Amino acid sequence: MTSETSPLIGIPTYKRKRPLFIAALVVAGLLLVLQIKFSDTHKYPPPPKIPAHIPFIGGPTWQVNNNDTVVATHGAVASDLERCSDLGVSILQKGGSAADAAVTTCLCIGALDTMFSSGIGGGAFITSKLAGTDTDAISIDAREMAPAAASRDMFQGREIASKYGGLAVAIPGELRGLYTLYKEHGSGNLTWPELITPVADIVRHGWKVSKHLALAFEIQEPAIRFYRKDWQFAFNSNGKLKQAGDWISRPALADTLDAVARNGSDAIFYDPNGRIAQSLAAKTRETSGILTAEDFSFYRAVVEPAVAFKGFSSRNLTVYTANGSSSGVALLAGLALADGFDEVNGTDFEAVPTQRLVESMKWLASVRTHLGDVGVFNTNATARQEHCERYSQFLTTQWIGRTREKIRDDRTLPSWKDYEPAYQANDPHGTSSLSVVDSWNNAVTITTTVNLLFGSVVHDPVTGIILNNEMDDFSIPTTQNAFDLRPSVYNYIEPLKRPLSSSAQTIVYDPATGRVDLVIGAAGGSRIPTAILQALIRIYHYDMNITDTIAFPRLHHQLIPEVLYVEDPLNTEMVKQMQLRGHTVEDVTHMTAMNGIRIKHGKLYAQSDYWRKLGIAAGY
Ligand SMILES: *[C@@H]1O[C@H](CO)[C@@H](O)[C@H](O)[C@H]1NC(C)=O
Ligand SMILES: *[C@@H]1O[C@H](CO)[C@@H](O)[C@H](O)[C@H]1NC(C)=O
Ligand SMILES: *[C@@H]1O[C@H](CO)[C@@H](O)[C@H](O)[C@H]1NC(C)=O
Ligand SMILES: *[C@@H]1O[C@H](CO)[C@@H](O)[C@H](O)[C@H]1NC(C)=O
Ligand SMILES: *[C@@H]1O[C@H](CO)[C@@H](O)[C@H](O)[C@H]1NC(C)=O
Ligand SMILES: *[C@@H]1O[C@H](CO)[C@@H](O)[C@H](O)[C@H]1NC(C)=O
Ligand SMILES: *[C@@H]1O[C@H](CO)[C@@H](O)[C@H](O)[C@H]1NC(C)=O
Ligand SMILES: *[C@@H]1O[C@H](CO)[C@@H](O)[C@H](O)[C@H]1NC(C)=O
Repeated sequence: MTSETSPLIGIPTYKRKRPLFIAALVVAGLLLVLQIKFSDTHKYPPPPKIPAHIPFIGGPTWQVNNNDTVVATHGAVASDLERCSDLGVSILQKGGSAADAAVTTCLCIGALDTMFSSGIGGGAFITSKLAGTDTDAISIDAREMAPAAASRDMFQGREIASKYGGLAVAIPGELRGLYTLYKEHGSGNLTWPELITPVADIVRHGWKVSKHLALAFEIQEPAIRFYRKDWQFAFNSNGKLKQAGDWISRPALADTLDAVARNGSDAIFYDPNGRIAQSLAAKTRETSGILTAEDFSFYRAVVEPAVAFKGFSSRNLTVYTANGSSSGVALLAGLALADGFDEVNGTDFEAVPTQRLVESMKWLASVRTHLGDVGVFNTNATARQEHCERYSQFLTTQWIGRTREKIRDDRTLPSWKDYEPAYQANDPHGTSSLSVVDSWNNAVTITTTVNLLFGSVVHDPVTGIILNNEMDDFSIPTTQNAFDLRPSVYNYIEPLKRPLSSSAQTIVYDPATGRVDLVIGAAGGSRIPTAILQALIRIYHYDMNITDTIAFPRLHHQLIPEVLYVEDPLNTEMVKQMQLRGHTVEDVTHMTAMNGIRIKHGKLYAQSDYWRKLGIAAGY
């Protein structure tokens, strides 16, 4: 069948049984007219039947099997795919550091069954802490950047173009981020090719499609069929999309990875005259994009000190999280609020501690609305200064003290306006997270994404790369919403600027012992920072272990809409207590997937979110 290659065929009017040549003439004429008149609307695939950002299988539980937690003594990797966690551990066993293993694991999850969440066509945030007492963690911002030809109003009147097709594509940052991590914190024991080749080999040989990938294909089927000629690898010879258990391989991607390995760095990917950038730019242009090969030469990963909160909990811990265009500052503002109530020592879902946690989430969400990238090439000193002040105000004792006084144990504030949001926040999706600890106590955690399922759904068959739709994470000036909040001016599109991300992967370090205590990250768009906030409170205020912390249902409040989202299965007493405090409560099935490693009494407890995303950790 060829009907899926053209979105126009199948419109009922054309289906009359008439003499063939007349029908053909009519069709041809109408096609011409429609193409001229509606050319723009017809460049985009139909939307999926279910939202394109929740391919979670299963869900949280109160009944936890302890055998789900990997207990290791040397090193561990917690990612979304068992095979990639194993591959990361094999790098550790060869003398690699956490950074080395994180590079391999990250390339692996982006290439195999979670290729819909991430990959080298996307971007990442990395938090990395070297072992030892005297080094602070670093944050690497490898978020995508808007093409040089991008402009504030480029999606006006065609918001669909920020989701599907070439215009949605921003300059990929993933590979530069991973290469930067390798250079900054690699052990030196393994070469760049040794980190990449194991992934290329699997991708070339192929593997069996998981339930998860099959579901992602099914959800995005209309869009994948729209771009069908570029997605040959995802189809069986009978024209059906691959299903669970079918064999799949990506030889073009394997060739690209091998070329990057042979090159010895990321230079080959970002070379504007190289085959990779040229091919990606051409494919983007063919799908009505503006990304050029030259844009690749502008890409910069930003290495900064991680955002830090010192003095967390009665243990006086240091919490490091992502800097740059992430939501790290919002997470730490929320954490500082939640932590400041006299050592809560509550239990999970007890009324007052839960109320304090939810109120901290609402403030966290408000802080997010003040964030946005200033642009790595922005030389306006006033703008840079203003940006710096806007970020740092939330981590001051004045802001935290003044804000905490507004939090009531017996009721939520009547209106979202009481929480002082600046603008409407963006609402990112997708993502995958991974955490690694090695035998020296080096720790790395990465949040990586192509945004929505399979990003822009533009796949370049020459390089095998699926391109992101990160442009959708910018705020679009004309967007309407039910509240009288404007889209954030801080997050408007500018050439070579990064869209605001919700990444907030975290490393908790104990200065008293000089050791890392916890490494944790989450996937799930705007729900990432609240999920991590809740995990930190569960572990350090309620003394829960990493197994229960990740398995149990989570809460989420993002201020707007004014709804407390509660994962199934519900704790009905908690729901009642929150309703008594004025919260509108809604239950949802799945929200975020979380992967982390806790270090306790010299052992590593590695936990992937098996319950929601079938993740399995590994260790040795
Ligand atoms: C986690 O804590 C629960 C509740 O205290 C306990 O039943 C379980 O054995 C613990 N799991 C692990 C892996 O330590
Ligand atoms: C864990 O134990 C349960 C039964 O308690 C079993 O069904 C499951 O297969 C086990 N998982 C693993 C990974 O061994
Ligand atoms: C790997 O490198 C570290 C230093 O980064 C060194 O201490 C260690 O001995 C090396 N391990 C192996 C197996 O070569
Ligand atoms: C890697 O790629 C860059 C950019 O194309 C090129 O200049 C360099 O010579 C290549 N290095 C190797 C070892 O192939
Ligand atoms: C983020 O990094 C910048 C350097 O680019 C640094 O000045 C700043 O202190 C960091 N932000 C925070 C909140 O630590
Ligand atoms: C908390 O830890 C910091 C180091 O991060 C140290 O300077 C300070 O003295 C500690 N405070 C207490 C009360 O232990
Ligand atoms: C809470 O528990 C911690 C240790 O778990 C303890 O140090 C602290 O004193 C307790 N605080 C209160 C108020 O009970
Ligand atoms: C620099 O940034 C400030 C603050 O955002 C802005 O008011 C000013 O117009 C900018 N200057 C230039 C030359 O663009």
